[in-house]
Amino acid sequence: MKDLTPTRASLDPIEIASRDEIAALQLSRLKWSLRHAYDNVPHYKAAFEAAGVHPDDLHSLSDLSKFPFTAKSDLRANYPFGMFAVPREQVARVHASSGTTGQPTVVGYTKRDLETWGGVVARSLRASGLRPGDMLHNAYGYGLFTGGLGINLGSDALGLTTVPISGGMTNRQVRLIEDFRPKGITVTPSYALSILEEYAAQGLDPRASSLEVGIFGAEPWTNAMRKQIEDAFDMHAVDIYGLSEVMGPGVANECVETKDGLHVWEDHFYPEIIDPNTGEVLPDGAVGELVFTSLTKEAFPVIRYRTRDLTRLLPGTARSMRRMEKVTGRSDDMMILRGVNVFPTQIEEQLLTIETLAPHFQIELSRQGARDEMRVLCEAMPGAEAQVRDAQMALVHKIKTVVGVTVRVEIGAPGSVARSQGKAVRIVDTRPKD
Ligand code: DLL
Repeated sequence: MKDLTPTRASLDPIEIASRDEIAALQLSRLKWSLRHAYDNVPHYKAAFEAAGVHPDDLHSLSDLSKFPFTAKSDLRANYPFGMFAVPREQVARVHASSGTTGQPTVVGYTKRDLETWGGVVARSLRASGLRPGDMLHNAYGYGLFTGGLGINLGSDALGLTTVPISGGMTNRQVRLIEDFRPKGITVTPSYALSILEEYAAQGLDPRASSLEVGIFGAEPWTNAMRKQIEDAFDMHAVDIYGLSEVMGPGVANECVETKDGLHVWEDHFYPEIIDPNTGEVLPDGAVGELVFTSLTKEAFPVIRYRTRDLTRLLPGTARSMRRMEKVTGRSDDMMILRGVNVFPTQIEEQLLTIETLAPHFQIELSRQGARDEMRVLCEAMPGAEAQVRDAQMALVHKIKTVVGVTVRVEIGAPGSVARSQGKAVRIVDTRPKD
């Protein structure tokens, strides 16, 4: 793999500013953002008043802990535009979550917000090793989802050649990578695996492709998966994080030279880690729920938004800004099996240690009498079908000894596990709702 480290001169000065400079900027922006939300969004005014706080009560960054949290339910209650802080005519763009579990969540951006977004995504793409003039194959979905259009903004801002292919039509993905020879690809890690399969189906060698870096996010993925993808394509794999409510992709990104967690672009998004049960702010280094406050957003400010993503904050390395560790999972995806907490990423980690198994999997939860059961559905690698029994026993054993739960493992024929074209559906819950 080539060294793709960006030059220091190409970075935004704030990326390598001192911690004091970053904190001073955060404090002045935080004061503005609290005031902006309070003055322009009735929900925030009411929530601050109910908590007995006022924007003027913020004198230091730690005073933020006095302010109330914002949850997804608050956004739903104000559907569609009730959380917007500017008149609708000043909203240049809306995006929305898919809303498969209920009402969609709508978010908005002013023209200046779109510039800010483009700026942080450009920074993310540069941290990943891309530079002006490079070509980017953008396979995140275009539309209401923030992935495709968000990356596109940053790709334009950095001066890349964008191939806006979006998700799906996997054979065409391979064809265009081979014909256009992009240097980078932006895609969910699970869809990258489908593209990889298509390489095999077309008899092409992915290691011989032009790709030098893949920028993967929108869903949890493990370092074991990183290794698998890096080896398969002979390219770097870095992590990009974000969520629509806070902006979209580009809230945090890994640096290609260190790949040691994602630098949070703290000049625009102020992170906190809280205990998900008590709401207490935890010190850096402790694992908990990630909470973000926007510092510069005009149309859709968020104050202490609870992401439900579990991670911890670590000091900066390649940049001065703090890092967040790879997200273990969402608290919503945590399964509790006979008292043991299990995340799909823990299953992924064990699955990937078994070479005869393909990296595709789905977890099915069911109820047998009074007990919850977990079935892991996976597939043998093509050509390894004869070793299915050994692989199955090995995976049951590893999950039992490392994760601590007893599961059933079913190994189907190649292609039997549902493939994703975007975010993978890892958990199928067939338990009766009670
Ligand atoms: O997934 C934005 C995005 C697009 C990020 C493309 C990166 C690349 P939402 O659809 O609102 O936005 O989903 C946000 O996805 O709260 C996490 O649970 C999860 N997620 C996003 N990035 C990562 C990541 C986009 N790198 C939700 N690792 C978040 C783990 C991630 N989970």
